[in-house]
Amino acid sequence: MAIFGPRANLFMNIALLTTAGLFVFLLILVWVVPVMGYNSQERYIPPQPVPFSHKHHVSGLGLDCRYCHTTVEVSQNAGIPPTHTCMTCHSQIWTNAEILAPVRQSLAENKPLRWARVYTLPDYVYFDHSIHIAKGVGCTECHGPIGDMPLTWKATTLYMSWCLSCHRDPAPHLRPRDQVFNPHWRRNGDTPSGDQLMAEYHIHPETLSDCGVCHR
Ligand code: HEC
Ligand code: HEC
Ligand code: HEC
Ligand code: HEC
Ligand code: HEC
Repeated sequence: MAIFGPRANLFMNIALLTTAGLFVFLLILVWVVPVMGYNSQERYIPPQPVPFSHKHHVSGLGLDCRYCHTTVEVSQNAGIPPTHTCMTCHSQIWTNAEILAPVRQSLAENKPLRWARVYTLPDYVYFDHSIHIAKGVGCTECHGPIGDMPLTWKATTLYMSWCLSCHRDPAPHLRPRDQVFNPHWRRNGDTPSGDQLMAEYHIHPETLSDCGVCHR
């Protein structure tokens, strides 16, 4: 009499396959999930009081970033526009539109709109917009194709490794200063090379990854 029945091989194979499958599944869980956008909220669109579109206002109407984010060149923070910035136009156009009701209410009650933040760093990280702008790092390097976003979504992880990957080798991410605010800028034949721009802006990546640069 056989110790193993005729189907023992089959059962054994199924058992082995299941174990292998579980193993792969665990590997994915451990390695892939932490770097997936899902975990870092990459591509995340937070709910906003008004569905503001950069696509319409920047690419459509041609408004400059600094019209609304007035402090981006001079300070740590870019700044979020107050209601009256919207009202310079929307007291005349789309004055009765339902989706702009919260904007009118904000003006009437003199209470700022409560925009949900898309990008936030932990308090222990030091960041400054003005230095990046001054050294020719365009907004889209960090904020993605924002000029084409109907709703603002998060284009990067904001992980430390993301900051470092540029701080170790900034050259490919630089552009002429007058193109920093251009959301559709592309490198072309006339663009000075990354190394030329590094020299022009006096960028020294040797010390740019020191812990004290971002943790002060
Ligand atoms: C007409 C005003 C206006 C202009 C022009 C404008 N923005 Fe904005 N921006 C806003 C408003 C309002 C918000 C908040 C709502 C949102 O997140 O979409 C915002 C949010 C953002 C955010 C997300 C901030 C956060 O973390 O919550 C980024 C990044 C941004 N803008 C970049 C830009 C860039 C780059 C440009 C130029 C290419 C630009 N904006 C032009 C009004 C403007
Ligand atoms: C320079 C003038 C101007 C400013 C400043 C401005 N808007 Fe607009 N906005 C427009 C115009 C023009 C339209 C119509 C766009 C269209 O239909 O293509 C519009 C459309 C909109 C709409 C309708 C949906 C859409 O995107 O078409 C919303 C919502 C809106 N604006 C919100 C805002 C908010 C919030 C602010 C302030 C942060 C603001 N706007 C500042 C000119 C402006
Ligand atoms: C080197 C990457 C980088 C560049 C370049 C950059 N940003 Fe930011 N931006 C960030 C980070 C990181 C935050 C989150 C800051 C925080 O939480 O302290 C942020 C936040 C913002 C915010 C939210 C409000 C605020 O003041 O923090 C706005 C608006 C914004 N950026 C607009 C812009 C505009 C406009 C430009 C181009 C002129 C630009 N950014 C260029 C990385 C960048
Ligand atoms: C796309 C490229 C790029 C990214 C992404 C980037 N940086 Fe920078 N950063 C630069 C460049 C270029 C400089 C200017 C270096 C210089 O002046 O020599 C700089 C300078 C700085 C400085 C000032 C350094 C000093 O010596 O005073 C700080 C602080 C800083 N970055 C923080 C951050 C943080 C935090 C992040 C991530 C949230 C980040 N950066 C992401 C390119 C980048
Ligand atoms: C270019 C900016 C930058 C530099 C340089 C930098 N960090 Fe960070 N660090 C960040 C940012 C942004 C975060 C928050 C995002 C994250 O957790 O990845 C962070 C988070 C951390 C954390 C918390 C980690 C966690 O997972 O919660 C530690 C610890 C840390 N950094 C240590 C260091 C040390 C040590 C160095 C020097 C070898 C260093 N950092 C250099 C930007 C930087």
